[in-house]
Amino acid sequence: MTKIAIVYHSGYGHTAKVAEHVFKGAADTGADVTLYKAEDLASPDTGPWDELATADAIIFGSPTYMGSASAPMKQFMDASSKSWFADAWKDKIAAGFTNSGALAGDKSSTLAQFATLAGQHGMIWVNFGMKPGFNASAHEFEGALNRAGHATGLATQALTDLSAEDGPDAADLKTAELFGKRVAEVTERWVRGKA
Ligand SMILES: Cc1cc2nc3c(=O)[nH]c(=O)nc-3n(C[C@H](O)[C@H](O)[C@H](O)COP(=O)(O)O)c2cc1C
Repeated sequence: MTKIAIVYHSGYGHTAKVAEHVFKGAADTGADVTLYKAEDLASPDTGPWDELATADAIIFGSPTYMGSASAPMKQFMDASSKSWFADAWKDKIAAGFTNSGALAGDKSSTLAQFATLAGQHGMIWVNFGMKPGFNASAHEFEGALNRAGHATGLATQALTDLSAEDGPDAADLKTAELFGKRVAEVTERWVRGKA
């Protein structure tokens, strides 16, 4: 069974909700999936780093704050330098997601940060592979999957006046599940190929 770790930060619960749906999509394939809070991995010397080292894939998730990953997520990213020294994540599968208030909201910057982090660790970055669901006049905005239209990772929107109970909406949460499924399936192929 493949092991997938999801490391995320969420200040107000919206990104946590996305993480839970990424978890569901991945776990429904039969993978062994665990959610980790970035705050529990803030220092290189404390936290479940050994568990991350045994995962086949690590998925990074954060809200986009001021056009980048949030500070607690960046603290985790910096703390991962000890794993970098040890090549602990080399050749693992990596992927990323971000959630923000605007439909675009500079989410690409956050996804690029995660892809660069994966590159630094020598990981294998998995792009989303889902076409944009709202880029033609025939498309309906409501209910569209991958509505924000990102390819390098999962991007969801939670309108800023809505609590985490009400946002992101069902279409974005379904998109999150399909993203989790995609990463789990690629991980499964990668692990089988190595065997
Ligand atoms: C400090 C801060 C900065 C933010 N910057 C952005 C931004 O650059 N782009 C955007 O679309 N939304 C931005 N937002 C909105 C959040 O991304 C949005 O509310 C998100 O759902 C918060 O996720 P969370 O509940 O997991 O913390 C910002 C919110 C905060 C608190």
